[in-house]
Amino acid sequence: MAIGADNLKILYASSEVYPLMKTGGLADVAQSLPATLHAMGSDIRIIMPNYGSINSASSDEKTIAQFEVGGEKITLIETHISKTRVPVILVDCPTWFGREGNPYLDSKGIAWTDNAQRFAMFSKVVSLVAQNKTGLAWKPNIVHCNDWQTGLTLTLLKHAGIDKGLVFTIHNIAYQGVFPRSDFVSLQLPEELWSIETLEYYGQMSFLKGGIVSCNQLNTVSPKFAEEIQTSEYGFGMDGLLKSNSDKLRGIINGVDLKEWSPKEDSFLSYRYGIQDLQIKSKNKLELQERFGLTVDVKIPLFASITRLVEQKGVDLIIDILDKLLALDVQFIILGSGEEKIEKKLRNFAQRNKKKLHAEIRYDESLAHKLTAAADIYLMPSRFEPCGLNQMYSQLYGTVPIVRNSGGLADTVINYTKGQQGINAATGFMFEKCESNEFFKVINQALDCYKNVSLWKQLQINGMQQDFSWQTSSKNYISMYEEALR
Ligand code: GLC
Repeated sequence: MAIGADNLKILYASSEVYPLMKTGGLADVAQSLPATLHAMGSDIRIIMPNYGSINSASSDEKTIAQFEVGGEKITLIETHISKTRVPVILVDCPTWFGREGNPYLDSKGIAWTDNAQRFAMFSKVVSLVAQNKTGLAWKPNIVHCNDWQTGLTLTLLKHAGIDKGLVFTIHNIAYQGVFPRSDFVSLQLPEELWSIETLEYYGQMSFLKGGIVSCNQLNTVSPKFAEEIQTSEYGFGMDGLLKSNSDKLRGIINGVDLKEWSPKEDSFLSYRYGIQDLQIKSKNKLELQERFGLTVDVKIPLFASITRLVEQKGVDLIIDILDKLLALDVQFIILGSGEEKIEKKLRNFAQRNKKKLHAEIRYDESLAHKLTAAADIYLMPSRFEPCGLNQMYSQLYGTVPIVRNSGGLADTVINYTKGQQGINAATGFMFEKCESNEFFKVINQALDCYKNVSLWKQLQINGMQQDFSWQTSSKNYISMYEEALR
């Protein structure tokens, strides 16, 4: 039987889903991919933990099941994402998820010491729901897990004898859910799972590895990154394992939720625009210059970066070049939070360059949209990038990205090269080595192009015309599900 979207029953497990909880791109994907599959006719339900700091506030919450796992009381609450109407099952377990703050880190930015217990509990509950053992009278044929927080689910399901429909997506290979043997023991997992074929990873246990080895089909979020993670440079120690699982591994580029991210319809913007009225874009720039006390002048090129302040994103490269950059007639607004030492450095720079640099050290969805629209140039010098979404958002907003030639960045940005053909296609600028001189060189190249008004406009329009919708990628997910059911 051919399998189409309409006979798929999918349980989609993620530790974050926008707008309920977001720390990064995973949340955006966990909203928009299920929404697309739902619209295509799939019976899909999202499952995530009910965090103390969740933004649920939905009026339609109802309790749908109550049971115990390891002596702990679990309540399943059903809600919906209001925009998309996709059902979401919230796993309520106050001991592990009731606390306020970040889902993974304490207030100092250090991983919660009981993350093994927390996400093992989540994974156990997901595996029970997947097996229709919680009284929901619903049995999925696809269990789609995402990142290490849900990896153990697949190990448990495989161990329970389920040999079809198990799908795992790696959004970030740098986080592997590695915990000591003592956690394995305290979680009372079956002893046979402590083996190099399953959870054991260099004397410890890894939930990510559990997902990789136990799933039927595996993907990461861009074709290039799927190649890269099989090399020692980008595999974070998992390259050997991934290579030996390459027959079930593929890369599927993330799509963009065009209802959320389109400059014509974006409700966060004071001034909406499209290709036809691109001149309106600069009003967004004036608005932020004013709001943040920068020199108000439409001609000054405005750089932006919206990012977690962590090494992966190459923020250290940005800091390396900041003095040189701010010596030019430019401005820069950076939005995001992360490692304390990076936050501090940025605050210092901002203190010394009030008219040119604004550092907003927090995450704010509304400002993220405004800044994407306001900026001329978007900086994304990532050390590695499984997919990356902000370089796509910027292109759609006529904000030209400068990115490193790596992972999803390489798959979604067309590098500017001289000559008419290059100009006709290009959507941004790319540099090779993760090195600040190369980065700064390409920034200067971009600034040169910026002076050429018609060339710049062409780059903007090229970006705005890119098709980053979920159309193609959702079909690729459906073929992967079909494969997983074979
Ligand atoms: C992670 C990756 C990022 C990707 C996102 C969604 O945050 O670092 O590259 O776009 O997941 O898949």
